Amino acid sequence: MRRNLAMTAFASVSLAAALLIAHGHCKAAQPEVSFGPFVPTPMPVVEEMLKLANVTKDDIVYDLGCGDGRIVIMAAKKYGAKGVGIDIDPELIEKCKEGAEREGVSDRVRFIAEDAMKSDVSDATVVTLYVLPSAMLKLRPKLLRELKPGVRIVSHNYSMGDWEADKVVNVNVDYQRTLYYWVVPAGVAGIWRWRTTINGKAVECTLKLKQEFQKLSGTLSIGEAACEITNGKVTGNEVSFSATIQLGGREVKMTFNGKVSGDALKGTQLIDGTSLRWDARRAKVGIEGRWKWVAKTPDGELTGQLTIGRDKRGIPLFSLVSDGTETAIWDSYLWGACVRFSVKLWSQKGERELTFSGFVEGETIVGEVACDAWETKGEWRAEKMSK
Ligand SMILES: C[S@@+](CC[C@H](N)C(=O)[O-])C[C@H]1O[C@@H](n2cnc3c(N)ncnc32)[C@H](O)[C@@H]1O
Repeated sequence: MRRNLAMTAFASVSLAAALLIAHGHCKAAQPEVSFGPFVPTPMPVVEEMLKLANVTKDDIVYDLGCGDGRIVIMAAKKYGAKGVGIDIDPELIEKCKEGAEREGVSDRVRFIAEDAMKSDVSDATVVTLYVLPSAMLKLRPKLLRELKPGVRIVSHNYSMGDWEADKVVNVNVDYQRTLYYWVVPAGVAGIWRWRTTINGKAVECTLKLKQEFQKLSGTLSIGEAACEITNGKVTGNEVSFSATIQLGGREVKMTFNGKVSGDALKGTQLIDGTSLRWDARRAKVGIEGRWKWVAKTPDGELTGQLTIGRDKRGIPLFSLVSDGTETAIWDSYLWGACVRFSVKLWSQKGERELTFSGFVEGETIVGEVACDAWETKGEWRAEKMSK
């Protein structure tokens, strides 16, 4: 009864507003990261979310913080997908199971009462979210670590900070809602090499590819010439970028499209309108190990150690050693040869939230460190330590 009252009160307000009136209604255990109280996504919005994710019978749809299970149940009923709903509240999970039974989809869906921050979501092909903005940022590194490239994520109303959405759609139900859509990018940063033929001559090509989420930047060298790439993007395993380079005294326009698989990148290169095969290989990236770093920042020089390892499933784990103690860094990302992590550190100016990003080349990481309190970024450099 209490829950029904809460649900009616929340039905037409945003999740953030509902949080303010939720206190006292929630009987479930409080997780470390709360996604917010149960506020159902209206059914027409659920429909739009599943359409945006292009759900089919081949999908496994995970709803993290699934409430009464409506998203997973509709994915199974309308599209024949499999589904997993996870919610911290066991009473809601009972409702989900009843709902699945009622709709005749119990054989295709599973509902689990647990903290979704601790769930293994690695077999999802689609993830749906309607969670508080603070929880979106906590989920971001988990999703990027655990989900395979190409997995689609759709969120009702809340974005993921500087991981820009690949698509944004507005839906007007009670009020204007925004749906965000992302595709999990493969980690493609690194040094890629291949040979190509230009004007009948074989030339060596090198691409130093940098990555932040799905955005790619970097330098393309063809023989002696070099240029910055433009429009660089990775969508799942699909890589694309353009380049305009001076070759033999004239401007040559190029477009590259390819599919990455580990350290191989294969596709087509369009050079001055001629389409050629593109078959590149990435130099091995040795990211695991202990790194000793120095940062020259507006707050003065900072030093520390960074350890990058992998768990049993191969998922990268970052930790920082300071004063002899090792602390896990939860907000960390690895995209091939590009690393990024955020951590709170003490400087002469007090505690600072710093974001380190860098490119790994051999035994060195070179990059920068940013802080909201600074007008300019600092320089960051790390050297691999011997074991
Ligand atoms: C806004 S509701 C969304 C319900 C459903 N996804 C929908 O769109 O209709 C958020 C849900 O997250 C659940 N929740 C909160 N923190 C959670 C956590 N750490 N793990 C799993 N579920 C959580 C709440 O019980 C609530 O049902």
